[in-house]
Parts: sequence; structure tokens; C-alpha cells
Amino acid sequence: MNLHVDINKRHAERKEFSPESLAKVNELMLDVPEGKHKSAVLRVLHMAQDELGGWLSIETMDYVAELLNIQPIEVYEVATFYTMFHLDQTGKYVLEVCRTGPCMLVGSDKIIEYIENKLNIQVGQTTEDGMFTLKTVECMGACGYGPMLQCQYKNHEFLTPEKVDELIEGYRSGTFEK
Ligand code: FES
Repeated sequence: MNLHVDINKRHAERKEFSPESLAKVNELMLDVPEGKHKSAVLRVLHMAQDELGGWLSIETMDYVAELLNIQPIEVYEVATFYTMFHLDQTGKYVLEVCRTGPCMLVGSDKIIEYIENKLNIQVGQTTEDGMFTLKTVECMGACGYGPMLQCQYKNHEFLTPEKVDELIEGYRSGTFEK
């Protein structure tokens, strides 16, 4: 396995929240005891990923640390632990296929292989047209409905090659937009 990471690809121009989102962050902070700002990091990272480009660049994570008045490393350690956070630039749609035991037992490995062949990419890569990124993730809490994947917070369950064809076509045509 190649574990080389090009750190330059993890940098991007700094972006900041809109005044409305900043107000939401400040509201969140009111519920957090003084000195415990780190407990808001998951919420703010989700907001940052959703609103500042779909992934978490080093600049975005540093911005979150600034907002919460914590050390950047405290943000990095959370963002790198959870597979729902994207640390590299992604395509417009991220197909997150569950690879944990129960889904594997009902064929998620076959679904991953099917998507790789269909989109001509490997896990972790993005299609040339920038439409799809394929990721594998740990249990999404839908173990009885596997194989499953999540895209834009929407679950697609009991996947078969035919369903994968339909959902990729759905995203390409905009049918599955948020
Ligand atoms: S094992 Fe796949 S959703 Fe739980």
C-alpha cells in the first residue's frame, strides 16, 4: 500500500464562514462551558466541510481552531479520526461505501469493485470529470440494509450493480440532489 501523502494537496486558499454561519458558531459556543470549546469541534467541522468547499484543507482546520480558541492539533486529531471528514479535495459527489463486517458479509467488496470498474477509479480517487469520489468508510449504522453507501447524507441500501447504475445516473442527472 502506498502511504505517501502529498501535503501540498492538503493546502487551499483560506475561506471563512458567512456572517450567518459565524452567528451559529457563536450560538453554539454559548452552550459550551468556558475552557471546553473543544467539545464543539465536531459540529463546527461539519459546518466547515459543508460550507467551505466540501473538504477540510489545513487552512480550514486552522480556521476552526482559531474560532474555537484551541490548538490546530486538537482539530487535526479529530478530523483525521473520523472517515466522514474529507482531508483531500473531493469530487462533487462522494460515494462512501461501508466496508465493515456486516456489509462485507453481504457483498460490499463486490460493490466497491463494481464502482471502481464503472467509474474507472480506485478507492480514494476522483473521476476525471470531478463528479465522483469513491471512499470506503466504517459502519454507518445501517447494518441490516447492506451493502450500503452514503452520499450527501442520503443512504442507498441493499445495493446491487443495477442500483449502483441507477444512483450514479441519478446523481449525474441531478435526481438525487440535496
Ligand atoms: S456494517 Fe455497514 S452499516 Fe453497519
